[in-house]
Amino acid sequence: MNLILLGPPGAGKGTQAKRLQDRYGTVQISTGDMLRAEVAAGSEVGLQAKAVMAAGALVSDDILIRMLAGRITRPDCAQGFILDGFPRTVPQAVALDTMLAGLGKQLDAVIELVVDDGALVERIAGRYTCGKCGEGYHDVFQKPARAGVCDRCGGNEFVRRADDKRETVAARLEAYHAQTAPILPHYKASGKLHQVDGMADIDAVTQELITLLDGLR
Ligand code: AP5
Ligand code: MG
Ligand code: ZN
Repeated sequence: MNLILLGPPGAGKGTQAKRLQDRYGTVQISTGDMLRAEVAAGSEVGLQAKAVMAAGALVSDDILIRMLAGRITRPDCAQGFILDGFPRTVPQAVALDTMLAGLGKQLDAVIELVVDDGALVERIAGRYTCGKCGEGYHDVFQKPARAGVCDRCGGNEFVRRADDKRETVAARLEAYHAQTAPILPHYKASGKLHQVDGMADIDAVTQELITLLDGLR
């Protein structure tokens, strides 16, 4: 199964992509995670992306298209993939069509997580992840079972993203509405666009996704 998860910052793309990966064996491809790894490594791409990401703006299409082309051709994508954070502009959506056609692959579904902008600041500002295994948590909505200990790996160091400041979230939302929302009609026209209520609680969203995806198989 080849999927795109779409939605504004904090919609739950990463949370749900990880759960779908565990269930279906389809690999999560998060361009945000890939860029953060480049920044952490201090690579050429990382140096170009760091300030742009910190400002809540989008990194250039050239960089992202090259990055995705390299990732989607790796062997682990043979079982299927879930794109989390790509495409984010019309040129990226067009480039993805070309890439997939070249690989003889097709998208099975494009899923938009529909949320109210008002809820997103709270979601993002409360988010943190395990520094060891990357498991995601939230101060209010998704606490580890034992305070300060990761449910998945037992790690006890947690990190917060540099762009998760309240001030930056507004810029990220603006970028979503101005640059990413315009790709929705592209997928609507293909008949592959599905909308899922991203305001429901995390388990309910997962259940709705599973029902939808099992119906497509
Ligand atoms: P990226 O890492 O993709 O960030 P984003 O799109 O802003 O999305 P987030 O990761 O913030 O949110 P999410 O939808 O994954 O939500 P999550 O599941 O964590 O991109 C970062 C930056 O990289 C961009 O700003 C840009 O600069 C650059 N970039 C990346 N891709 C690019 C591209 N293709 N082109 C150009 N630039 C690119 O959930 C959020 C929180 O809410 C969590 O704490 C979670 O526990 C909680 N939560 C989730 N679901 C629910 C729920 N249903 N109810 C209550 N709480 C919930
Ligand atoms: Mg994410
Ligand atoms: Zn962990």
